[in-house]
Amino acid sequence: MALNYAQGFVLLAISCMFAVSHAETVVVGGSENWRYGFNYTDWSLKHGPFYINDTLVFKYDPPHNVYLLPNLWSFINCDFRRATLLANPTQGSGEGYMYALNNWRVYYFASSADSDCKDGMMKFFAIPLPRRFP
Ligand SMILES: *[C@@H]1O[C@H](CO)[C@@H](O)[C@H](O)[C@H]1NC(C)=O
Ligand SMILES: *[C@@H]1O[C@H](CO)[C@@H](O)[C@H](O)[C@H]1NC(C)=O
Repeated sequence: MALNYAQGFVLLAISCMFAVSHAETVVVGGSENWRYGFNYTDWSLKHGPFYINDTLVFKYDPPHNVYLLPNLWSFINCDFRRATLLANPTQGSGEGYMYALNNWRVYYFASSADSDCKDGMMKFFAIPLPRRFP
């Protein structure tokens, strides 16, 4: 059965609506979760790209945590002095801590516990893109 023009248009409109409202939930690190010694830069490059309104889920045990770092310099240097605490060491249990990427900006994530950021590779950045239309 061939679609006529009107039916095709309705299908296209529905799939566009779906694309706009559809946002993914992504567990950071996949089955590795948020832990010391896993390369999250590598993970984010392989997983990406992320899209606006996607939600990241951080699952972890104490003493790890989740901070948002203010800029590239603090990210490179693991400098938490002007960082924002998003989730404390206990918030990663159960379903994990959820954080939505609502804006078109660079998000720098890191854990500040011990040497998590410097030696443990527990940092990555995400630049969510406007969602593609099909
Ligand atoms: C993201 O979600 C907000 C609030 O639900 C919505 O207004 C906005 O259009 C969404 N943006 C995209 C790119 O889907
Ligand atoms: C982590 O992965 C990135 C991207 O693949 C790579 O450039 C970097 O050298 C890795 N870091 C370590 C400490 O292995």
